[in-house]
Amino acid sequence: MFYDDPKKHNLKHNPFKALVGPRPIAWVSSMDLDGVLNLAPYSFFNAIADQPPTIVFAPNGPRPGGGAKDTLANIEKTNEFVVNLCSYELRDEMNKSSAHVGPEVDEFELAGLTPAPSVHVKTPRVEEAPASLECRFVTRLRLPSTNPKIENNMVIGQVVGIHIADRIIDDGMIDVAAYHPLARLGYMDYAAVDSTFEMLRPD
Ligand SMILES: Cc1cc2nc3c(=O)[nH]c(=O)nc-3n(C[C@H](O)[C@H](O)[C@H](O)COP(=O)(O)O)c2cc1C
Repeated sequence: MFYDDPKKHNLKHNPFKALVGPRPIAWVSSMDLDGVLNLAPYSFFNAIADQPPTIVFAPNGPRPGGGAKDTLANIEKTNEFVVNLCSYELRDEMNKSSAHVGPEVDEFELAGLTPAPSVHVKTPRVEEAPASLECRFVTRLRLPSTNPKIENNMVIGQVVGIHIADRIIDDGMIDVAAYHPLARLGYMDYAAVDSTFEMLRPD
């Protein structure tokens, strides 16, 4: 089959996000100018450079009632955030933190998570997370949107510090079985990485 209009694919649901997956999940902590904490998952996320380590994620659409999502509004005020990585074991907490609640609600508390101090940014990280990337805000790009109610954005961050839980390091390498990363698929589906294999490059 072929389609070029998201409303004309004749499938039960738009398959786009099911095709571009699995996607890693940026579990972004941020803070407003009064120190109110915010935490939310973003699966339009990836690493885009490693010297310096740089990430991108996409806070799209307004929050219910209008205005930028809390994560984006906070980052534009403070110029910093933390991308916590999420494991299968933290799936319920991650899901709880995606609730559309007001900016005054601290999703660390809502999800029963512990804020732990960061080193180079004021925004705390999620203590329970297997790893956390402290980020400085580099830029926000506004992307085209075909829906007047939805604003599409790319937020780029430079990673200035990396926390790794000792339990996921084995013999100087990240032990993927211990890390057990959670990934977003399409629809309401997720995957957890349970097995890996190695393949050497041809040159
Ligand atoms: C697994 C998962 C992935 C998500 N990915 C995105 C995303 O990439 N972009 C986005 O705008 N919203 C995404 N959402 C929805 C946001 O998490 C949700 O709108 C949240 O309430 C935003 O919180 P905030 O206003 O505190 O930033 C995702 C939700 C879940 C559960």
